[in-house]
Amino acid sequence: MKKTGSSVCLLLLLHIYLSIVVTNSAPESAIVTQIPGFNGTIPSKHYAGYVTVDESHGRNLYYYFVESESKPSQDPVVLWLNGGPGCSSFDGFIYEHGPFNFEAAKSKGGLPTLHLNPYSWTKVSSIIYLDSPAGVGFSYSKNETDYVTGDIKTASDSHVFLLKWFELYPEFLSNPFFIAGESYAGVYVPTLAYEVMKGIDADVKPKLNFKGYIVGNGVTDELIDGNALVPFVHGMGLIPDELFEEANRECNGNFYNSLSDNCTDRLTKIDEDIAGLNIYNILEPCYHGTEADKIITTYVKLPSSFRKLGETEKPHLVRKRMFGRAWPLRAPVRDGIVPTWPQLTSSNNVPCVDGTVADVWLNNEEVRKAIHTAEKSVVSSWDLCTDKISFDHDAGSMIKYHKNLTSKGYRALIFSGDHDMCVPFTGSQAWTRSIGYKIVDEWRPWLSNGQVVGFTQGYDNNLTFLTIKGAGHTVPEYKPQEALEFYKRFLAGLPI
Ligand SMILES: *[C@@H]1O[C@H](CO)[C@@H](O)[C@H](O)[C@H]1NC(C)=O
Ligand SMILES: *[C@@H]1O[C@H](CO)[C@@H](O)[C@H](O)[C@H]1NC(C)=O
Ligand SMILES: *[C@@H]1O[C@H](CO)[C@@H](O)[C@H](O)[C@H]1NC(C)=O
Ligand SMILES: *[C@@H]1O[C@H](CO)[C@@H](O)[C@H](O)[C@H]1NC(C)=O
Ligand SMILES: *[C@@H]1O[C@H](CO)[C@@H](O)[C@H](O)[C@H]1NC(C)=O
Repeated sequence: MKKTGSSVCLLLLLHIYLSIVVTNSAPESAIVTQIPGFNGTIPSKHYAGYVTVDESHGRNLYYYFVESESKPSQDPVVLWLNGGPGCSSFDGFIYEHGPFNFEAAKSKGGLPTLHLNPYSWTKVSSIIYLDSPAGVGFSYSKNETDYVTGDIKTASDSHVFLLKWFELYPEFLSNPFFIAGESYAGVYVPTLAYEVMKGIDADVKPKLNFKGYIVGNGVTDELIDGNALVPFVHGMGLIPDELFEEANRECNGNFYNSLSDNCTDRLTKIDEDIAGLNIYNILEPCYHGTEADKIITTYVKLPSSFRKLGETEKPHLVRKRMFGRAWPLRAPVRDGIVPTWPQLTSSNNVPCVDGTVADVWLNNEEVRKAIHTAEKSVVSSWDLCTDKISFDHDAGSMIKYHKNLTSKGYRALIFSGDHDMCVPFTGSQAWTRSIGYKIVDEWRPWLSNGQVVGFTQGYDNNLTFLTIKGAGHTVPEYKPQEALEFYKRFLAGLPI
């Protein structure tokens, strides 16, 4: 009897073992075996491919997945989203916290050389870089009506993506899962987190082990973000006290939607004072191209700005100009259609962008094959930001989402490069405070390498506001070491 029992047991174990081997593994076809431009051993497993989120329309979202370089079986899995709307998350991969630093080729159009990034966020987590919504980056739909989209549909598609992705990679289902993003992903992240939360509450399978989310310089609330610029430029010493006082008096605290000529007059003065600055980092030089005058006078276009090589600690910095969803100063994201970058500038060239390295690399035939993108007949070219989509900001203020999520126990890190004028820290500081949670970790400096590198205030319900001193709009690009530091501590649930 005993013998039979143990052999049944063995069979059962064998069966469990086999089913683990057979079903619990990432799709072999998605593995990236070599990376053009990189001459070395890939430090962890990389996978890339598509997940179909709508069969009838043929709507397919592209992802690039990098396993953690430490303990992939235990480390958190993080979904990363860049903003726009319309910008590819390869921005994060190439310019911010991906596993490689890209060094531009000496010859024009040549493949960049890839070096390992010592501050890659994949040192401590696995990351899914997702191109979203369909139409962005390498994601596409066979039915172009899908390119008319908005916050709600994007969140719903990304949720379907996640469920299907974890079905393909079930070995990661038990890892802590986080959602992170920047800029307009200040909308993508909470709206998707809310879908995920609802799914978990409704017992949707597979059950995601969702723990929390991270937003950097994120678009959040029309009113609060809209009123953030004037105090920011005053505090930074960019406008005089007199003008600040007059603006306060004439505008009655409403800087984002001027109701009187006197208010508009003061705001125009402010705009004139700051027009020459780099909106993404006021400490950085600004590019004054031929389009600068046009941009200021037409007032719906962007101040062009660019950054010189080598101005962060990041080696091989190759992006000369910054980009992001930028709206005219004082005009935050409002409900309704959000113009995409190329639409804003009425040109297919995004004037503030020199994404040469990304363009060259991601449009190279060999690279595209290696990372499993669709054929050129399906996705003809990769663009950092696209005008293919028409995007409706239809989810309103994000504050209600943050309230729901944090009150349900999901942890939130709201970080802000404190020299960004595009989504200034004054707005993020104000809206996190406006939620009204008790302060549990009063405003204090946070340190890296024994130096003050920013400030933080912690609220009840694990809502943390954090600044990164001297960083612009895309924090990990400007302060890679500090960024990895706070990221690591937050994921581990440690005080920052
Ligand atoms: C690639 O690496 C090998 C050894 O690490 C080296 O000998 C070779 O010169 C490298 N090739 C290039 C193109 O950098
Ligand atoms: C595209 O989608 C729309 C909306 O669902 C549908 O009405 C239309 O028939 C579809 N077109 C094609 C070619 O499938
Ligand atoms: C606007 O400013 C002018 C000049 O400073 C002042 O005379 C006028 O009363 C102001 N208008 C309003 C509505 O406050
Ligand atoms: C959040 O929670 C409140 C109260 O439970 C509810 O009324 C609201 O619909 C929820 N969702 C959002 C997105 O605010
Ligand atoms: C904050 O997060 C920690 C770690 O996940 C958890 O133990 C704690 O209960 C949370 N606190 C609140 C107030 O939600």
